[in-house]
Amino acid sequence: MIWYPYEQMKRMKAPYEIVDAEGPYLYTKDAKLLDSISSWWSVIYGYHQPKITEAICQQATKFSHVMLGGLTHKPVQELSEKLAAWLPGDLNYCFFSDSGSVAVEVALKMALQYYVNRGENSRKSVLALEHAYHGDTFKTMAVGDDEDYHFVLQVYGKNPYIIHIPTELDALEKAFARYGDELNCFIVEPLLQGAGGMRMYDMAFLKRSRELCDKYGVLLIFDEVATGFGRTGNRFVADVVLPDILVLGKGLTGGHIGHAVTVANKKVFSAFYDDASEKALMHGPTFMGNALACAAAKASIELFDELDVVTRVAHIEEIARRELMGFIDSRIREVRIMGGCACIEVYDAQTLAGYQQFAYERGVFARPFLKYLYSMVPYILTDDELVHVFTVMKEWFRRG
Ligand SMILES: Cc1ncc(COP(=O)(O)O)c(C=O)c1O
Repeated sequence: MIWYPYEQMKRMKAPYEIVDAEGPYLYTKDAKLLDSISSWWSVIYGYHQPKITEAICQQATKFSHVMLGGLTHKPVQELSEKLAAWLPGDLNYCFFSDSGSVAVEVALKMALQYYVNRGENSRKSVLALEHAYHGDTFKTMAVGDDEDYHFVLQVYGKNPYIIHIPTELDALEKAFARYGDELNCFIVEPLLQGAGGMRMYDMAFLKRSRELCDKYGVLLIFDEVATGFGRTGNRFVADVVLPDILVLGKGLTGGHIGHAVTVANKKVFSAFYDDASEKALMHGPTFMGNALACAAAKASIELFDELDVVTRVAHIEEIARRELMGFIDSRIREVRIMGGCACIEVYDAQTLAGYQQFAYERGVFARPFLKYLYSMVPYILTDDELVHVFTVMKEWFRRG
């Protein structure tokens, strides 16, 4: 039996069975569905993308996987070189993992050990955001702040080494003034908090975060697993404010195969680069640097530039604003739009009950959660397809 994610299995409705997927469409036996959420925001160029599929197939004719323990190979070398050249600043040191959660774990471990390696064992705390979501492994749950996902952790009570603040400048200043000397890192989903409710905040907050991290000697970690690869309208938010550690996943492979990367700058890497073996980063997921995933990721990065994704996302945002901004209904609390993400927040989660089936019957796959009806479309949608996604959202409210 399959144990499905985030579901009460006892009363879960039967999932739609997908028999094929091509471009932005998912196919069931009898329906063609425009995927409005890109398979958890990862399939950014659509399904069965020819260039990515070809890269995977080509690599599979050689070998699919060899471990990185004592071995290396061309796909992982090429990808790390590509990332180092493509990413901003001196974010050049790539540690690969099989999922975004693990890559965040690695970032948090790096930040802690960065100080331990320098003999500063007192920097035990992590600063994170209210409503943060960084994955479902234990440490990522702890730095996350979403009880809707992680209520099981409540049995431990509040973790004294993790401090959560809202995305407000005043709270930021106060947190650094109070805890600045105890923190090893400040981890954020920059500009857009996804699973915590598609919450959007200002670049000024990140700019000030960078200044305060520098002032107090705290590492700044950007978890761009969701925001990276164009989703906020920036290629990466890291292009505007440079973090010390950047985490990428999801769109890294165009969503074709699971993989993620934790990219450190020279300052972080240098704290590990030493004759002492205990200063090494003791981490090694079996499938890190998987050859198929690396081939897919390299193709995905090339596509990003070839398709001029940043311009494309600006166009998606423009259409979303035209179609949704100003749409009023007494059940709607707020409409938020940033880059390739549009969200309608309602007052009462019950308002969205039944939306998935409603959308299905109109040829759209959606998966609202809690009070959030949102789209994170593949970037390849035509204007008509985009308008259809937003029209179905509006029809839901108009039907009474
Ligand atoms: C910001 C962020 N970080 C980390 C993760 C975890 O990634 P994965 O599901 O690949 O473990 C997610 C997943 O949605 C995410 O949105």
